[in-house]
Amino acid sequence: MPCPALPDGFDFTDPDVYHHRVPLPEFAQLRRTEPVWWNAQPHGIAGFGDDGYWVVTRHEDVREVSTRPEVFSASLNTSIIRFNAAMTRDKIDIQKLIMLNMDPPEHTRVRQIVQRGFTPRAIRALEGALRDRARTIVAAARGKESGDFVTDIACELPLQAIAELIGVPQDDRSRIFDWSNKMIAYDDPELAITEEVGSTAAAELISYAMNLAAARKECPAQDIVSRLVAAEDEGNLASDEFGFFVLLLAVAGNETTRNAITHGMHAFLTHPDQWELYKRERPGTAAEEIVRWATPVVSFQRTATQDTTLGGARIGKGQRVGLFYASANHDPEVFEDPGTFDITRDPNPHLGFGGGGPHFCLGKSLAVLEIDLIFQAIADTVPDIALAGTPRRLRSAWLNGVKELRVRYA
Ligand code: HEM
Repeated sequence: MPCPALPDGFDFTDPDVYHHRVPLPEFAQLRRTEPVWWNAQPHGIAGFGDDGYWVVTRHEDVREVSTRPEVFSASLNTSIIRFNAAMTRDKIDIQKLIMLNMDPPEHTRVRQIVQRGFTPRAIRALEGALRDRARTIVAAARGKESGDFVTDIACELPLQAIAELIGVPQDDRSRIFDWSNKMIAYDDPELAITEEVGSTAAAELISYAMNLAAARKECPAQDIVSRLVAAEDEGNLASDEFGFFVLLLAVAGNETTRNAITHGMHAFLTHPDQWELYKRERPGTAAEEIVRWATPVVSFQRTATQDTTLGGARIGKGQRVGLFYASANHDPEVFEDPGTFDITRDPNPHLGFGGGGPHFCLGKSLAVLEIDLIFQAIADTVPDIALAGTPRRLRSAWLNGVKELRVRYA
């Protein structure tokens, strides 16, 4: 039964609807009146061949779905709710090779292997190099009077972090960046990137990573690639598995963190009291509030493996269920004054990194470290940074992206 006050066919994942307004007032209405709402799409959504999906808006319900993988599968229809019109079922099915789109027990096996590269010790080992990088990036921006914050500052550190983690040689790093941008931007007409360019970029990145894996197998180094691929047995990744893992990292680790940093800067510049507070006290809680505020991943989906109920709604076997992290992160049942950007918020049980459960963000500690390091460097080096334009947003069905944010550094 459609929520009466929303227009027929209203679609939270349609970039035309979503990308102008975050958070949508419609979420607040749904949380109050129909927290799990059937979003009918009579004309279907490319690739899925069904007639709609459930919109899950409350914090509690997003957590419930995320932590019950036996009832809510990440694999049946993968994690992205909406693709563009050219998407086919075959192409969706290929994406099941990515860990984000696997269910236990396959997911458990891959996750156990790759998390060796993300131990607190492994992340701590990157800290010194990333701190230096953060300072260098911001110092280079200071040399200009003004510029685009996204290209000057937000892009570089997440890319370097992943490249450092998997041991990509310096000369190859810009290629990884370029491929990952192309894979994500197909929904945005301004970037004029077709689905085909996106698929080619994905194939090139996978093949690059597979070659890297093969080289490390032959000649091991002190990086995680060598540890993950050392020998192909139950406890290691095959070269193609490694290729798909790097593909996931390039999108999951790059674009998300870049947008958290950009939204964070915009939030600071539009809330000057919070910027002054940050510069003075550098609270350790700031990075988490930036992720809650930004919610770089607006939504992911699951598919019901059986008939079930959720938040008062009866979900049928095979129906898709959209987890709207952006809505959960503004749920007044959980957050006091959710519309306030408060860098001292504590506790801050936001779902920006997922709702718990087996797919909870593998790179959370790395992301929090990167956000912390870059804002420390900005506060030290360009403390008087100021806004010089409105953000230009990426047109995407699941990523809360900013393409350009003009600032003055001096
Ligand atoms: C602010 C930055 C980031 C945000 C907002 C973010 C958000 C997310 C979200 C929402 C999920 C899905 C959770 C779920 O389905 O329950 C996820 C999964 C994942 N993230 Fe992140 N992420 C960030 C940074 C990173 C970084 C830096 C890396 C690695 C370098 C990373 C690697 C991954 C991986 C590998 C997964 C899949 C985990 C699995 O399926 O088991 N993420 N992330």
